[in-house]
Amino acid sequence: MKKILISGGNGAFGTELQKQGHKSFNFAAPSRNRMDITKYSDIYRIASFHRPDYFIHAAAMTRPMAGHENNPINSIQTNIVGTANVVEACISLDIKLIYISTDYVYPSTKTGMHSESSALLPFTNYGWSKLGGECSVQMYDNSLILRMAMCEKPFPHPKTYDNVYKSSIFNDEAAKVTLRLLDEIGIINIGGKAQSIHNFVSSHQTTEAAQHDGHQNTTMNIDRMNNALSRRR
Ligand SMILES: NC(=O)c1ccc[n+]([C@@H]2O[C@H](COP(=O)([O-])OP(=O)(O)OC[C@H]3O[C@@H](n4cnc5c(N)ncnc54)[C@H](OP(=O)(O)O)[C@@H]3O)[C@@H](O)[C@H]2O)c1
Repeated sequence: MKKILISGGNGAFGTELQKQGHKSFNFAAPSRNRMDITKYSDIYRIASFHRPDYFIHAAAMTRPMAGHENNPINSIQTNIVGTANVVEACISLDIKLIYISTDYVYPSTKTGMHSESSALLPFTNYGWSKLGGECSVQMYDNSLILRMAMCEKPFPHPKTYDNVYKSSIFNDEAAKVTLRLLDEIGIINIGGKAQSIHNFVSSHQTTEAAQHDGHQNTTMNIDRMNNALSRRR
């Protein structure tokens, strides 16, 4: 069985990865106490011990989004410096790296449908921090960047925006897709149909429509994901 080392393995997505892949992969998912990504020596020590086939880097400072505006130092340290540490360890130990990124690296535009080669322009500090992480990953050839529009299942809030358009996918489905694409290289958008968050969530659970302060559209073209999945059936 191939071995996967996950950072952020106790988070929502890391937990889904282990749930979806436990029959096909051996997982190591050290807690933040054992492998703090802001400490290069932690990562190098744990990765040298496990010698995994793949390192899925899912650890990040995530919610609340306002935290990235109010505390950019923590956001920089975790999402930019922390990711650079993971890349350095993977280069040194020759481990394939999969970095979990986000659709928030794209600008919000009228028409959306960003492809992997579209211009990038984050509009939040969270988006900048994840793009900052992408920069070092891009410098390592044996890597894969997955830009996800991922939602927790069930969606944890009672209201959903009907003027925020994304290519949303639930985290259980995103985990299954990730585990099928481990041998891909480069950048792949991971998501589903382009629609408002309200439409997406209301097809799975009851939710009340709400309006965000401003219209947002970070929908993505997911042809590359679909082509890769059909090749790896
Ligand atoms: N959720 C989304 O909507 C979404 C969408 C697109 C992309 N992403 C990306 O997907 C990845 C996983 O997200 P998620 O939803 O699973 O987030 P999450 O539930 O907040 O999990 C994040 C994990 O990162 C860990 N972490 C934070 N700082 C760390 C550090 N310094 N060292 C080691 N671990 C640290 C946390 O540890 P503790 O358990 O100790 O706090 C937690 O286990 C992230 O990279 C996120 O940016 C998320």
